[in-house]
Amino acid sequence: MTDPIKFWGIVPAAGVGKRMQANRPKQYLGLAGKTVIEQTLSRLLQANVFEAIVVAVSEQDPYWPDLAISQHANIITAPGGKERADSVLSALKTIRDKASDSDWVLVHDAARPCITTTDIQYLIDSLVNDDVGGILALSSPDTLKRVQGNCITETLDRSHIWRALTPQMFRYGMLKIALEETEGNPSITDEASALELKGLQPKIVEGRPDNIKITRPEDLPLAQFYMEQQ
Ligand code: CTP
Ligand code: MG
Repeated sequence: MTDPIKFWGIVPAAGVGKRMQANRPKQYLGLAGKTVIEQTLSRLLQANVFEAIVVAVSEQDPYWPDLAISQHANIITAPGGKERADSVLSALKTIRDKASDSDWVLVHDAARPCITTTDIQYLIDSLVNDDVGGILALSSPDTLKRVQGNCITETLDRSHIWRALTPQMFRYGMLKIALEETEGNPSITDEASALELKGLQPKIVEGRPDNIKITRPEDLPLAQFYMEQQ
């Protein structure tokens, strides 16, 4: 008999948060009584689907070891890398002895604390029988323009353009190979793009608009508002 398929959470959290312009990486800023990363991890733990959650943090990070959640029985710490893709690959390598190639991994940004169990479960239910996997995504409410300099050259067909969110859900083995083969390629800004480069076609699953990524200072009060509404 083969082992049942497992689900692993992968949380890249080794960024410096340049656009946030704060005195520490944005995942360690306060949000609704905890840090951003604690909010994110609590929600992933609450979903109650993961064998374990691997968190990739910078090796010089003084904040992570001070958080009680870093010692949680279902949380594994991995060394972060230079770019997001390097951090994700490092996290995958950390569980190479525990994960099977056919296990699913859900990669979720530390900076998206408003993720809901509903969205996680909807993503899993939508893709669990898929060959490739896919991502939560959002359509654009605004009309979209292609621009050169400050001049509009084209209005894009909105039905073909989606914004990529996380979690992004792929098979352990397929994702690891795709990230290894594309290592150092600056155009790999999410997991899906690594698989696309291999000629595969990840699916999109429509996510909730409140699953924002904290990027700039104004996003923190917005995230707090969404959390209160949920
Ligand atoms: N990330 C990571 N390793 C890196 C860079 C980013 O694990 N070398 C993580 C971030 O911590 C974040 C997620 O990837 O949780 C999404 O990246 P982003 O929002 O760009 O965060 P930062 O890179 O920290 O922010 P900025 O680009 O403004 O510096
Ligand atoms: Mg970044």
